[in-house]
Amino acid sequence: MKNVAVLVSGGGTNLQAIFDAENSGIIKSGRVTVVISSKPGAYALERAKNQGVEGIVLERKAYADRKAYSEALAAELEARNIDLVVLAGFMIILDESFIKAFANRIINVHPALIPSFCGDGYYGLHVHEAALAKGVKISGATVHFVNEVCDGGPIILQKAVDVVDGDTPETLQRRIMEQAEWKLLPEAVELFCAGRLAVDGNIVHIK
Ligand code: GAR
Repeated sequence: MKNVAVLVSGGGTNLQAIFDAENSGIIKSGRVTVVISSKPGAYALERAKNQGVEGIVLERKAYADRKAYSEALAAELEARNIDLVVLAGFMIILDESFIKAFANRIINVHPALIPSFCGDGYYGLHVHEAALAKGVKISGATVHFVNEVCDGGPIILQKAVDVVDGDTPETLQRRIMEQAEWKLLPEAVELFCAGRLAVDGNIVHIK
């Protein structure tokens, strides 16, 4: 059984999808053993409590710089023997040394089809605003390994979702969550924990 840490900054609907997948047996090769929030009072912490999972707060402003923050985070993860780090709406960019220390053990969910609408500044509703401004007819979600390039790591799973006439950033965000993110992220967690993901350069093979 792998130990999974989920890092959050907000509502935590993706975290909830992981808990639901554990509870229903879709995730059977790992367990979330800690939830770390960059924001005190994030509703995700309430979700952790309801699941009986430890929740801790690590605020960025409590640390001098990105490196100090990343070191504190790494210490919390190492103390708990974490095998997999899941970024589920975690809005903080981590230091390169952290990414190296957890190479191919950090996954992120992004609410667009990478390489569209990704990289610096593309997070949360901004992603959907940009997709609607471009007029794309399809968007979706991507789960990928995290490397030193923002949203540039090897892609694990993707799913397309229709954009509908009259969509607002909020309606598009919700549809992408329901149809793609909440399914892909638990699926990727199980694939990782079951040892079914092999990274070969930029390509992820599912065994
Ligand atoms: C999700 O849509 C996730 O894909 C996005 O933030 C939202 C968090 O929602 N992440 C990013 O934009 C990362 N670049 P949640 O807290 O309800 O899971």
